[in-house]
Amino acid sequence: MSPRRAERMGIPGELHATGRRQSMADARFAGTAQMWLDMYDASSLRGIIHQRRLSIALSLIDSVTVPGEARALDVGCGPGVMAIPLARRGARVVGVDRVGPMLDLARSGVSSAGVGDRVELVMADASELPFSDGAFDLVVGLGLLMWLPSPSQGASEMARVLEPGGFLLVNASNRWRLTFVLDPMETALLAPAKRSIKRLLRRAHLMEPTGRLESGKHSGREFRALIRSVGLEPVASRTFGFGPFTLFRFRVFPDRAAAAVDRWLQRMADRNVPILRSLGAQQVILAHKPGAAPTSHAGDASNVISRRGFRARPL
Ligand SMILES: C[S@@+](CC[C@H](N)C(=O)[O-])C[C@H]1O[C@@H](n2cnc3c(N)ncnc32)[C@H](O)[C@@H]1O
Repeated sequence: MSPRRAERMGIPGELHATGRRQSMADARFAGTAQMWLDMYDASSLRGIIHQRRLSIALSLIDSVTVPGEARALDVGCGPGVMAIPLARRGARVVGVDRVGPMLDLARSGVSSAGVGDRVELVMADASELPFSDGAFDLVVGLGLLMWLPSPSQGASEMARVLEPGGFLLVNASNRWRLTFVLDPMETALLAPAKRSIKRLLRRAHLMEPTGRLESGKHSGREFRALIRSVGLEPVASRTFGFGPFTLFRFRVFPDRAAAAVDRWLQRMADRNVPILRSLGAQQVILAHKPGAAPTSHAGDASNVISRRGFRARPL
């Protein structure tokens, strides 16, 4: 439906754009579910960066104490790549996704991994989670916020279902990623000018309200502010992923060379080299919900996700 037709039918422009964007994202994920799962075994740059994302996320989760038989929620769980390792660590996991083919892959993945009895999969929307307040000790949203029509509504829902004392782990696309800084077509420095032009084109009905599917990019400060705005306290963060490297949106290196440059830049960022440590394509934040420490639900110490304490840089 065109924006003009939606307006004539009394559907507010924003709502129309929101619904349209979500259904486009759903269609994209339904059509690429198997490719998404395969990426976790691929040696492409994209595969390497997503495998790194998963391992950084797990190492941050492993750095905090979550009770035995932790109740964990994986929002936008996709094919279950996070749900499986969480279940293997002893957590009882609920995976939520809007897209049937993703949930089907997750179902067969958890069953082949032998953790089917610890993982429940639910079709639901991240903006309206069907769980009561404080139902989980750990909430994860990997690769999720940037696809939501309202990242703040998604963050607020994840914070609501988190028990005081619990942890949230989420990531966002970095507005100041290296490629965006170097590529004149992508640079965030021109973003305000581009936004104004788009606004004018939309007002004149010369452009559809949602040009791109991904909704949000955040600077580190904006991402931390978003997390604080839902009542959580960021305690650790990492940026990661530097490629692909583009100029005027064309890739300047073949995949293998880009992967080597990406690895080198990641090593520098991991050593906390100033500036570089903030230029990763994505940022992941571990945040804490103030309040009592979550109580153990089974009391079995062998199920404790980890007791190691933070290694990541406190914020
Ligand atoms: C980029 S994939 C990430 C999948 C998985 N978390 C991972 O790290 O591999 C995003 C996932 O979020 C799901 N998703 C997008 N919008 C959603 C929404 N509003 N509610 C629930 N899931 C959503 C998609 O269907 C997709 O499975």
